[in-house]
Amino acid sequence: MSENTHDTVGELNKYLSEQQPNGGNDQMDEMSRRKFMTTLLGMTGGAITLLLAAPIVSYTVKPALKKSDTQMVDVGNFSDFTAGKPVKVDYSFMRKDGWIEAEVKQSCWVLKKDDSNVKVFSPNCTHLGCGYSWDEATQEFKCPCHGAVFSADGEVKAGPPPRPLDQFETKIEGGKLFVGKLKVEG
Ligand code: FES
Repeated sequence: MSENTHDTVGELNKYLSEQQPNGGNDQMDEMSRRKFMTTLLGMTGGAITLLLAAPIVSYTVKPALKKSDTQMVDVGNFSDFTAGKPVKVDYSFMRKDGWIEAEVKQSCWVLKKDDSNVKVFSPNCTHLGCGYSWDEATQEFKCPCHGAVFSADGEVKAGPPPRPLDQFETKIEGGKLFVGKLKVEG
């Protein structure tokens, strides 16, 4: 590098130092301040967006995650059932599952034991799920698929079913019989 070049660089540095009394530190401070303010504004904006979005997210996502409502369904006046005589009842109810609300049609077999006791059976055989029927002559439930026979109380009398008939939860309230979800055995 020539002596002239050194002189020129030296003069330039001297000029810049004179223009910026603390050697350019103010410019650096200004840049840092700007960067800090930009970051702060960005973070504040993000926080406000999150605050505003939280209720919307809660409103839109929560129902989708909500499990289906379990409910007891009114299937008729308890006094209308005859003790010791099983009867098949078809009923329907609205089930809400997340966003979806749909009508569910279901059947059950109601066996009124006396004025305060009742058994309500699932209409599906506990072997492979076929529908069964009540044989008035023998006072038994019979499944046509593989010859299962159940007593009026739902106990297995013959055939391949591994367990008695499944039962629904029940309650009697205000003279009405209500049927709930299937009881889980064991
Ligand atoms: S499904 Fe009823 S006996 Fe097999």
